[in-house]
Amino acid sequence: MDDSNESKKPPLRRSQAWFGKQDRDGFMHRSWIKNQGYPHDLLDGRPVIGICNTWSELTPCNGHFRELAEFVKRGVYEAGGFPLEFPVMSLGETQLRPTAMLFRNLASMDVEESIRGNPIDGVVLLMGCDKTTPALLMGAASCDLPTIGLSGGPMLNGKFRGRDIGSGTGVWQMSEMVRAGEMTMEEFTQAESCMHRSKGSCMTMGTASTMASMVEALGLSLPENAAIPAADTRRNRLAQLTGRRIVEMVKEDLRMSKILTREAFENAIRTNAAIGGSTNAVIHLLALAGRIGVPLTLQDWDRLGSEVPCLVDLQPSGRFLMEDFFYAGGLPAVMREIQHLLHLQALTVNGRTLGENIASAPCWNREVIRPYTEPFKPAAGIAVLRGNLAPDGAVIKPSAASPHLLRHRGRAVVFENIEDFRARIDDESLDVDETCVLVLKNCGPRGYPGMAEVGNMPLPPKLLRRGITDMVRISDARMSGTAYGTVVLHTSPEAAAGGPLALVRDGDMIELDVPARRLHLEVSDEELARRRADWQPPEPPKRGWYKLYVEHVQQAHLGADLDFLVGGSGAGIPRESH
Ligand code: FES
Ligand code: MG
Repeated sequence: MDDSNESKKPPLRRSQAWFGKQDRDGFMHRSWIKNQGYPHDLLDGRPVIGICNTWSELTPCNGHFRELAEFVKRGVYEAGGFPLEFPVMSLGETQLRPTAMLFRNLASMDVEESIRGNPIDGVVLLMGCDKTTPALLMGAASCDLPTIGLSGGPMLNGKFRGRDIGSGTGVWQMSEMVRAGEMTMEEFTQAESCMHRSKGSCMTMGTASTMASMVEALGLSLPENAAIPAADTRRNRLAQLTGRRIVEMVKEDLRMSKILTREAFENAIRTNAAIGGSTNAVIHLLALAGRIGVPLTLQDWDRLGSEVPCLVDLQPSGRFLMEDFFYAGGLPAVMREIQHLLHLQALTVNGRTLGENIASAPCWNREVIRPYTEPFKPAAGIAVLRGNLAPDGAVIKPSAASPHLLRHRGRAVVFENIEDFRARIDDESLDVDETCVLVLKNCGPRGYPGMAEVGNMPLPPKLLRRGITDMVRISDARMSGTAYGTVVLHTSPEAAAGGPLALVRDGDMIELDVPARRLHLEVSDEELARRRADWQPPEPPKRGWYKLYVEHVQQAHLGADLDFLVGGSGAGIPRESH
């Protein structure tokens, strides 16, 4: 072999370990893929781009993703790449039981192995509904190929009887109105068709929009990814540009780990505070950091984010919706406002720094996106609470809470699980008033299982009728990003893992002090030890994914990933299949 000639060859692409082989295996890899009509020269060593698609009719928020993928393909072809779209498990927040979160890690395994096992040089992740974003990010991070994120975009504003109604947030509000006798079921049913009237994901700053914003803040998408509505043709243009860019990223070998640095995560945490983002982002970013090998702790959320003001007046904390947010300038405008708090040199997928991307980002509406000096809410980031009720931490979103309840001492009204809660909360004789603290157990990662979004427990109807709209609520559950209230979440360790939450009884006094970051159960250590001796762990699931999950899921403060999925295995080429 002529060595001098060998050294002039371009580096072999990963996909060429399949398509470039001059033997029986190469025949098989090429010949079968040609049954879709691809010309031979598409297999000549150009970047092969996997388009990882979470399309499903059972995930309505991602129902337009086959169309979106076609725009990505345009861009890939234009830039000289070869796009191949593939499906992965799709997680729809509104249909999937017992909770989509139970399957986030399962979907991430699907993503990881689909990428690694196939002839792919770079990846476009099509993400939308809540859990589809972290699942794809986590799986791709464990492979660490050049990867770019593309979110599906939010729905247009909900419109009901002349006013805007927001995904989720409007449901929580109107269902309480029905329970309080202020709205008829007929009106409630009419609102269903009015709330979700276009393609896209929830148009409040719920988990989907939060995670789309996190993708952009981390530098993993092109600018403006967070807010362009799904129905706006500029979303398709972004998809096409994303397709063009991933081909370049493969040529530059711009891998995920070059983007997902500690600085990128710090930028995301601060941005989450500035947008009043979902508490779910805490869990997802901790898990993602674990996959890419960046040290990140629950405490980092409080330390980096809690003093950052919320600048956007968006539901669930405020008035407006994602469509308004986009027209006002979207995430680049917010990040520009907090640029003094960001690592501006952080590299993003377009090859430019974050600082370059946001340097001249305009704001068109100061009602929707406030200036840093006149924030919508001061010190609005996630607060991390500790105390004998949450030795490993619990979280609260002060921007969604009632100021008068942020320091509160009250009598516990305890529910053993969500069925117990639903059976008793509407009972007029339930011994509860607005000073009480509602405590819900067994809704954590292992307990539910999957850590359901039930932490924003509905209030007793007799209090709603008296005009009470908020109470302190504590659980090991999560809360929908579209929800609000003085709700303490993610209590760790959870009840089902024997955390102190399991030991709370009716009548115990609980002290919440958010400014002091304290969550205290006023019961002596001796009494808690006596109660612990009586405690029985729940029966574990017997088979299948539930069993694997419950045996291996980590607690919320670690991101609720499976213990054996933390870290990555790279994108090494597996051995031949035949
Ligand atoms: Fe899918 Fe909200 S339910 S994004
Ligand atoms: Mg949700």
